[in-house]
Amino acid sequence: MKPPNSSSSSLLVRKSPRLSPYLFSLLAFIVVVTILYGEDFRCIFYQLDSGTKPTIPSILKTNEKKSEEKLAFGIGKSEQGCDLFKGKWVWDESSRPLYEESECPYIQPQLTCLEHGRPDTNYRYWRWQPDGCSLASLNATLMLETLRGKRMMFVGDSLNRGQYVSMVCLLHSLIPQHSKSMKTSGSLTIFTAKDYNATIEFYWAPFLLESNSDDAIIHRVSDRVVRKGSINRHGRHWKGVDILVFNTYLWWMTGLSFKILQGSFDDQVEDIAEVSTEVAYRMGMKSMVRWVNRNMDPNKTRVFFTSMSPSHAKSIDWGGDPNANCYNETTLIKDPNYWGSDTRKSIMQVIDQVLSTTKVPITFLNITQLSSYRKDAHTSIYKKQWSPLTPQQLANPVSYADCVHWCLPGLQDTWNELLFHKLFYP
Ligand SMILES: *[C@@H]1O[C@H](CO)[C@@H](O)[C@H](O)[C@H]1NC(C)=O
Ligand SMILES: *[C@@H]1O[C@H](CO)[C@@H](O)[C@H](O)[C@H]1NC(C)=O
Ligand SMILES: *[C@@H]1O[C@H](CO)[C@@H](O)[C@H](O)[C@H]1NC(C)=O
Ligand SMILES: *[C@@H]1O[C@H](CO)[C@@H](O)[C@H](O)[C@H]1NC(C)=O
Ligand SMILES: *[C@@H]1O[C@H](CO)[C@@H](O)[C@H](O)[C@H]1NC(C)=O
Repeated sequence: MKPPNSSSSSLLVRKSPRLSPYLFSLLAFIVVVTILYGEDFRCIFYQLDSGTKPTIPSILKTNEKKSEEKLAFGIGKSEQGCDLFKGKWVWDESSRPLYEESECPYIQPQLTCLEHGRPDTNYRYWRWQPDGCSLASLNATLMLETLRGKRMMFVGDSLNRGQYVSMVCLLHSLIPQHSKSMKTSGSLTIFTAKDYNATIEFYWAPFLLESNSDDAIIHRVSDRVVRKGSINRHGRHWKGVDILVFNTYLWWMTGLSFKILQGSFDDQVEDIAEVSTEVAYRMGMKSMVRWVNRNMDPNKTRVFFTSMSPSHAKSIDWGGDPNANCYNETTLIKDPNYWGSDTRKSIMQVIDQVLSTTKVPITFLNITQLSSYRKDAHTSIYKKQWSPLTPQQLANPVSYADCVHWCLPGLQDTWNELLFHKLFYP
C-alpha cells in the first residue's frame, strides 16, 4: 500500500469548502506533524488513527524474527522464552559488589557514594535474578578479548555515562596500569586499552540529535530546543564503532510539550514548533533508527538501546511521606508492578513502536522496571556537589538529594551484565 501523500490533504480541503471545527483541527494537526516529520507521511496516520495502531508489543515479534539470523558477537542463545528483564533482586554477599569503589579510579566524583559519606552499604549486594533462567556472569576476559582491535561506544546522557563508567570499572582491573588511559575532549571520553588496541568511549548527546544542551560541561538547561533532522551532526563521530549503546529520555521531560527547531541554530529568526513530548521523542527515535539503518553493518556490529532510567523523587509513589524522596532510602520496593510517576509509559510505547521498524537489529535493554525497584541505589546526597550547599539545604537533605543518578558500584553494573548477556547470548 502506498503511503498517502500530501495531495490527499488538499483533496480533503477541496471536497469540503466549509470546514467543520473538527476537520479544521485535524488539518492543523496534520500540518504540524507534516512539518515535523518531513518525508515520513505514514507517521501522520499512525498518530491520528490511534484506535487501530498495533497494540501487541511489536518488539517481541521483531526479536523473534531477528534472533533467527545470527547476530554479530553471539556465541550462544538465551534460554527460550526467558525475559531477562522480569525477575527479582536477591541478596548475594558472595558475588557482589563486582568491584570496589576505591579500586576504580574512573568513577566520577558525582557517583562515588562511599567516598562522600554514604553510611549504609547494602545497596551494593543485590543481584538481579530473572524469573525462569539465569543471567550469564560477566566474563571480563571474554569481553576484552572480543573488543580487541575494536571500538565500543556509549552515546547519550549522564545516565548512559554512568553505565559507560561501570563497564570500564568492570574490565579495567585486567589491564596493567601502564597500558590503559582515559581522556576527555569535548563531547568524547575515550578509555584506551593499549595492549588490546581497544577503546570504550562515551559521547555526550543527551538528545542524540543536535540541541542547545550539547556542551559536555555547560548545558543550557532551561528552554531546551532540539533541531530536527540533525542526527549526523553527532552521528559522524559514531561511524566505525563496532558496539554502540544508545540512551535518551530524561532531557526530553520538560513538561507536556517540547520545542523542535526546523532549519539551523544559526538562523536569524529561529523557526520553532512546539509539539507534544511524545511526538518530539518519536522524531528523535526515528532519526536514530534511520541513522543505524544507514551506517551500521548488521553482520559485523551490534547496536543496543537502553530504556528510561527511573528516578525516585516522590516517596508518595511508593506509599511514603509526601515530603520525602530517595534520601535515606535503604530498602527495595517489593511491589512487582511498581511503576513511578516520573516514568512515562507513553514513551515506552513510542520506543516499542519505533524500534520495531528497524532493519538493522537494535537490541533493547529494558532496564526500567527492574531499576524502578531500586529506590535505595541513587547517589542521594553522597556525591560531589556542583556548588557549595546553603545552610537551608544542609538543614534539609531531601532538598538536594540526587534521585536520578546511581552509586557505583551498584545498579548500573547490572545493566552491563544484561548487555553482556544480550551481546553473547542474543
Ligand atoms: C572467560 O572467557 C575466557 C575467554 O573466552 C575463557 O577462556 C574463560 O574460561 C572464561 N571464564 C569463565 C569463568 O567462564
Ligand atoms: C586497531 O583498531 C582499529 C579499530 O579500532 C583498527 O582500525 C586498527 O587496524 C587496529 N590496529 C592494529 C594494529 O590492529
Ligand atoms: C550479511 O551476510 C549475509 C550472508 O553472509 C549476506 O547475504 C548479506 O548481504 C550481508 N549483509 C551486509 C549488509 O553486508
Ligand atoms: C532515616 O530512616 C530511618 C528509618 O528507616 C529513621 O529512623 C531515621 O530517622 C531517618 N533519618 C533521617 C535523617 O531522616
Ligand atoms: C519493558 O518492560 C516493561 C515492564 O516489564 C513492559 O511493561 C514494557 O512493555 C517493556 N517494553 C517493551 C518495549 O518491551
